[in-house]
Amino acid sequence: MQRDSIANTFTVATCLCIVCSVVVSTAAVLLRPAQERNQAMEQKRNILQAAGLYRPDQPLEELFKQIEVQVVDLESGQLVDPSVIDPDTFNQRAAARDPDLSRSLDSRQDPAGIGRREKYSFVYLVRKDGQLSQIVLPVRGRGLWSTLYGFLALDADLDHIQGLTFYEHGETPGLGGEVDNPRWKQQWVGKRAFDEEGNIRIRVLRGRVDQDDPAAIHQIDGLAGATITAQGVSNLVRFWLGEQGFGSVLETLRELESE
Ligand SMILES: Cc1cc2nc3c(=O)[nH]c(=O)nc-3n(C[C@H](O)[C@H](O)[C@H](O)COP(=O)(O)O)c2cc1C
Repeated sequence: MQRDSIANTFTVATCLCIVCSVVVSTAAVLLRPAQERNQAMEQKRNILQAAGLYRPDQPLEELFKQIEVQVVDLESGQLVDPSVIDPDTFNQRAAARDPDLSRSLDSRQDPAGIGRREKYSFVYLVRKDGQLSQIVLPVRGRGLWSTLYGFLALDADLDHIQGLTFYEHGETPGLGGEVDNPRWKQQWVGKRAFDEEGNIRIRVLRGRVDQDDPAAIHQIDGLAGATITAQGVSNLVRFWLGEQGFGSVLETLRELESE
């Protein structure tokens, strides 16, 4: 066969395609466990960051020993026994897609734009001297281009915010991606989620917070040029603090505290 014949060109191109696809799929399969490990580490780092416990100079696994991982029933607000759902194997993302483990939300119930809400969720508890000092809640919701996944940490009073971080989203760097800007995230620290009557008051404004306004304690500056993402964050935080989110869990914890 001539080297530059059409048949030879096709044979070489086909062989090259097969070799490349084998290399790519082998790499994908071999790297998947490492990717999953890195994702899990990234989540742990974010949980610690939201709780203000992350120290870059200390081993992540050591720091994470301060965190008690629990699964809660979002309907009843109760902790779920590990013999019913094992936190080591529970996959919350898969549960949120599984019709048996989640329920669909109508548009009125779904300001976060998640479509379905799982029946069970992780929560991460931080205790000091046996007393609850923080609770970290996994949160998610629609921005402009993507679903943002993150963690919201509340102090033991279940009102003051300790931190908000996102470990995954597809918003535009420099616009919606500013949700990762440490200066913007810092604004959440110390803000109050609820008013005295227990209504959810925390929100991201479309503009800047007037520090002289008594409501400023519940307000966060908007993101200029990224109002859609910023309002998405506002909506998702409010959703997860509300009755369709962790409302019943927070209620259970408040009752336990007042006993
Ligand atoms: C290429 C491109 C990327 C954008 N990315 C985002 C984004 O990630 N988040 C966002 O809220 N708006 C983004 N916008 C802007 C939105 O379309 C919209 O104009 C903006 O959210 C409105 O916010 P503003 O009222 O503060 O200007 C993007 C616009 C363009 C052209």
